[in-house]
Amino acid sequence: MGLRAWAPGRVNLVGDHTDYMGGLVLPMAIGLGTEITGDRGGNWVMLGSDRFEGVAEIPLAGAADPADVEPPWARYVAAVVDEVRPADGLVGMVHSTLPAGSGLASSAALEVAVACALGADLSDPVGLAKGLQRAEQRAVGVPVGIMDQLVSLAATEGSVLRIDCDRLTVEQVPFPEDAEIVVIHSGQHRELEGSAYAERRAQCEEAEKLVGRLRDASPVDVEGIEDPVLRRRARHVTTENHRVDALAAALAADQLAYAGELLVASHASLRDDFEVSTPVLDQIVAAVRGVPGVYGARVTGAGFGGCVVALCRPKTRIGGPVVWRGRPAPGAALTSSTTA
Ligand code: GLA
Repeated sequence: MGLRAWAPGRVNLVGDHTDYMGGLVLPMAIGLGTEITGDRGGNWVMLGSDRFEGVAEIPLAGAADPADVEPPWARYVAAVVDEVRPADGLVGMVHSTLPAGSGLASSAALEVAVACALGADLSDPVGLAKGLQRAEQRAVGVPVGIMDQLVSLAATEGSVLRIDCDRLTVEQVPFPEDAEIVVIHSGQHRELEGSAYAERRAQCEEAEKLVGRLRDASPVDVEGIEDPVLRRRARHVTTENHRVDALAAALAADQLAYAGELLVASHASLRDDFEVSTPVLDQIVAAVRGVPGVYGARVTGAGFGGCVVALCRPKTRIGGPVVWRGRPAPGAALTSSTTA
């Protein structure tokens, strides 16, 4: 008997581009994810993939620089090996049901699945997520936050997670029984590498130099920023943080119409103030909002393409490329192992 490690992807309901500023996020795991099957042993991590070409061949001693490893998907594997420093190698296969480049955190799911398969300590999700965030930053050179890795590790079935990315605390917020999440693909593929993600983060950091920590700044402070671009970026982060707590309260109180309005307000902020939406995403959000049974919709994740997430009544019929629908799924797990 070999091992099976599973790591889910995620959608974020509100709180995008806030994690790297020490803000608040409200994501949940979905039922699509990445699975690794295989056996531990030897001095190498050797993985094939049903999705990507080539083989990841990483010596246990690690790669000199994960960013130089080929094929490109093996960079994530190399960076995780470096963080986890496993005692044993692994021979196995990566299977994924998550579309890559879709804003559903497929790279975090790969990192988390590799870490689980290598025997990383799952009892400390925050500590492991920090290591895997570092791994992603080293693998692709993008200054990502901690949300994706942490939700994949810490998710619990039936709840969304309110994560404070400064204190690194995770609270479960029960998802209403009479609601469902639908994920619609825009058809626009995007990679964070080479996107304006790093530029957005740098602009937020510039704004913080002017008004202090954005998570503590008041709307009055933010409106005083002279540069219109920095002002808009800062306004998004501060208002988005407030929407996280408002949505957590609305979901807990089963106030679904209000919850939907908060998704729509968040989309407008990502579109107008943070400028990470696209005309196609805007059109999908507008079309989906008109469907009876839909409370609200927004782009999810970093933007620049990818997916729209909609909050709906269960079984709402939505046309177009629905990639997943359901309620919050459980987090990562290692279900069987010869070496356990
Ligand atoms: C990507 C990053 C996350 C987060 C989101 C935007 O998914 O990996 O850390 O910044 O974008 O909210």
